[in-house]
Amino acid sequence: MMVNGVPCRPIRLAEGGGGVEVIDQRRLPHEFVVVPLEGLADAAAAIRDMWVRGAPLIGATAACGVALHMDRDPSDAGLGEAVAVLGATRPTAVNLRWALEDMRARLAPLAPAARAAAAWTRAAAVCEEDVAINRAIGEHGLALIAAIAARKAGPVNILTHCNAGWLATVDWGTATAPIYLARERGIALHVWVDETRPRNQGAHLTAWELAAAGVPHRLVVDNAGGHLMQRGLVDMVIVGTDRTTAAGDVCNKIGTYLKALAARDCGVPFYVALPSPTIDWTLADGLSGIPIEERAGREVTHVQGRAADGAVTEVRICPDATAAANPAFDVTPARLVTALITERGVCPATAGGLAGLFPERAAVR
Ligand code: MRU
Repeated sequence: MMVNGVPCRPIRLAEGGGGVEVIDQRRLPHEFVVVPLEGLADAAAAIRDMWVRGAPLIGATAACGVALHMDRDPSDAGLGEAVAVLGATRPTAVNLRWALEDMRARLAPLAPAARAAAAWTRAAAVCEEDVAINRAIGEHGLALIAAIAARKAGPVNILTHCNAGWLATVDWGTATAPIYLARERGIALHVWVDETRPRNQGAHLTAWELAAAGVPHRLVVDNAGGHLMQRGLVDMVIVGTDRTTAAGDVCNKIGTYLKALAARDCGVPFYVALPSPTIDWTLADGLSGIPIEERAGREVTHVQGRAADGAVTEVRICPDATAAANPAFDVTPARLVTALITERGVCPATAGGLAGLFPERAAVR
């Protein structure tokens, strides 16, 4: 996507491999800063500390992290270390495991001397595949938006939660890909952006990228969604996902489940944009099987913003003595999901629906 007229991605590999740069997303929307990842430790810190975030981008960064380490230590021990260190950074987004297993499976059979070049080639391919997947999700989701636009006057109102935009992927975004394509095709739309406490990815990231793309949007507090749906002000919900089970249970940023409940009560369609690397084919039951990351309480007790003097600062919003709990994700049962939008098409959130689109994966479970 474009930032100030310049094509931009949240992760960029040097031509021919050997270097990686990422946007430091902790500084958005107030500062746009690109930083190099110098090695395995940087790649791990970038994922763990959320310089990069969002399931697809975490997977792409992990692939690059393996490649960075293969430049330094392509031995079996080095490969094992890269997979272990990166695999321990965040527990919920399954794209991390997917990318690391993919890299290990391709590199382990090679002679160590051949691993670095192969790792860079594969890391670049992981990034390009993500772009193609999201673009295809966009085309399938666009049809859903267009169908709503065809039967109503005025803009299609879409509610989204967290950030499943291009900043969460290598490009296009998952939930935003249909939005960007609809905009390109001249469909009038408006996006309700949930602020998404505690890290405010909606306020900091989704709002920033929609503003940069000129997509009409308004920021709302997380608690507003039910009210907006009751008033008929939301035509559809589209969210991303960090891990979706083979039976269609959807794990996503905390608060997603409440949106799905409200959507069901109000008869609003609730869609999940789902790239196939985000499907956990080993799991059927999302409620018991998906590890839910518990992040630092400081993300809840403090908020970050820009002060009147322009300085980006953090303030405490509760008594000093108050501790916080911070589960970062929740699971929306498949029965509350209207449909999954994948790169191969739209399907019901059921084992049969996913198996119909991905028969080769479902068969090897
Ligand atoms: O910010 P994160 O990495 O904790 O959050 C993950 C997400 O970005 C969302 O849950 C998103 O909606 C799914 S990933 C496209």
